[in-house]
Amino acid sequence: LQKNVLLFPMTPNSSYQAISFAYGKARILDQRELPLKEKYLELSHPREVIAAIKSLAIRGAPLLGLAGLTALHLAAVQSNEKNEFHAYVKDIIHARPTAVQLSLIVRAQYDRCCNFSLKEQASLYYEAALDYEKQMLHESEAIAIHGQTLLKQHSKLLTHCNTGPLAMGGWGTALGIIIYGALMLRRNYEVFYTETRPLQQGLRLTSFELHKHQIPATCIVDSAAAYLMSKGMIDAVITGADRIAQNGDTANKIGTYSLALASHAHSIPFYIAAPWSTFDPASISGETFTIEYRDAIEVLRPYSLEQEKARNNSKVLNPAFDITPGKLITAFITERGVDRPPFHF
Ligand code: MRU
Repeated sequence: LQKNVLLFPMTPNSSYQAISFAYGKARILDQRELPLKEKYLELSHPREVIAAIKSLAIRGAPLLGLAGLTALHLAAVQSNEKNEFHAYVKDIIHARPTAVQLSLIVRAQYDRCCNFSLKEQASLYYEAALDYEKQMLHESEAIAIHGQTLLKQHSKLLTHCNTGPLAMGGWGTALGIIIYGALMLRRNYEVFYTETRPLQQGLRLTSFELHKHQIPATCIVDSAAAYLMSKGMIDAVITGADRIAQNGDTANKIGTYSLALASHAHSIPFYIAAPWSTFDPASISGETFTIEYRDAIEVLRPYSLEQEKARNNSKVLNPAFDITPGKLITAFITERGVDRPPFHF
């Protein structure tokens, strides 16, 4: 089985692709428009890719690694001199602070190649992006296969945010396990997914991906999860991760910590599925993680102008991620297998 994983990675039968690229250009599926429109953006300037990352046109921690490498390649192609290039590199690394792959992978490639000419660097980053894309295919398939060992034919599963092929090339991570089980093993999982306030990655993107793969599923509002657990409607919770510390503390989409607490209270296993590239070797615990705070408009947008006016006196706090303590995590599912506590990554 492992041999097949390495030699012939399978991919889900998708009619959509979050990002593709050729030398000097990138094509991004604008995730802000999903599920209503499947609109692709043709980008050739690093500034455009950085804007796409910041606005979540492209998103999901592992995929941000590829978007970052693509931006790095375009920056080397478009820059006339090294100072200009360095300014782009800085902007790419800081475009989103919590997802570890964006800064770590871009920084590693830059450190490896920065003494070459810009022309040579452009080729090296292009090759690095191709390699990383292949690596994601292998890793996501291995995660999907390892994940099946924790589940059964009719498991009732809850997932959060979006962690499918829109978030990691190949199958994705947590959602990849669900899609792979349904498609490759004909498992009839009962799938619940959260709406995922405020940007609704669940309601918009997970629903889109489940629909594309013809997997029936049920959406719940974020705050309904504990109630479903209390009614015996959930056997396991599986989410992705944006950054994992050596002790297992995990940053992921806001609301993940609440799901882990509720799972713990109901003795329901809580799994994190993520490629090994999500582990942050510099963080002993989650205390040092930088959590991204986003604009108030993302929280207020669904309300009418009148309601917004009535809220004028109220501040808005919009943390995009939270940190789940490692002690609440039953196991990590990575391409290397299933890791249970005590965690010492
Ligand atoms: O803000 P987003 O949509 O980029 O947040 C995404 C998540 O929190 C995912 O769970 C995580 O990046 C893992 S994606 C495989």
